[in-house]
Amino acid sequence: MKKIIVANWKCNPQTLREAQKMFLELKQGIGRGEKAEAVVCPPFVYLARAAEIFKGSKIKLGGQNCALTEGGPYTGEISAVMLKNLGAKYVILGHSERRAIGEDNVLINQKIKNVLKGGLTPIVCLGETAQQKQNNETFLILEQQVREVLQKITSTQVGKIILAYEPIWAIGGGQSCPADFALTVALFIRKIISQIANPTIARRVSLLYGGSVDSANAEDYLKTEIFSGLLVGGASLKIKEFLKIASLT
Ligand code: PGA
Repeated sequence: MKKIIVANWKCNPQTLREAQKMFLELKQGIGRGEKAEAVVCPPFVYLARAAEIFKGSKIKLGGQNCALTEGGPYTGEISAVMLKNLGAKYVILGHSERRAIGEDNVLINQKIKNVLKGGLTPIVCLGETAQQKQNNETFLILEQQVREVLQKITSTQVGKIILAYEPIWAIGGGQSCPADFALTVALFIRKIISQIANPTIARRVSLLYGGSVDSANAEDYLKTEIFSGLLVGGASLKIKEFLKIASLT
């Protein structure tokens, strides 16, 4: 199956000029042989420009978050429908950096439903903290996250969601998760999906790895069918590095 390589630019870069430069570099570099679907999730304010630049290219766009509902009196929010109308195909939901400022599984579950209703594909982040890992709670936390974020979502819809295992202790620190540990967790996540939905969906659902991915370790996660691709933060800001990762697929 086609792998998905997602760039999460987080709150970078600080100017539209820099963002444009990065979009152009990406557009020029992509499409020379790699089979993966490359997705860029820049800050909202750069999405419209990205959509113009990427017109006719294979690069897809995503948001890094979105509102709970469609339009209305929600100051500061961006709706899934707005993102769709701009040409975005994906939305990252429940990233640990958003969970850290108060988002919980219940809220993420509501956002997933809203995003699916809006016709976009949610990329739902899951993962345990360093403390939880130390306490041997990884599987407990992951099971709780998977069950709660997928609450009352039909099997067919579960099949349309992308999940991303991003151990929080591996994010941004240069300490990636050993591939065998990530694989064990990924298999566990698929087992839970099989209970929630069914074995076919559990096998087919897209599951990404994220956390200090770079071109040196990307292949460790990409070489197995258990992972459907990668969610790349820091390394995706260096366009050459991101292109290198995408070219490994
Ligand atoms: P990182 O971030 O690649 O910089 O660790 C990944 C993420 O937070 O999605």
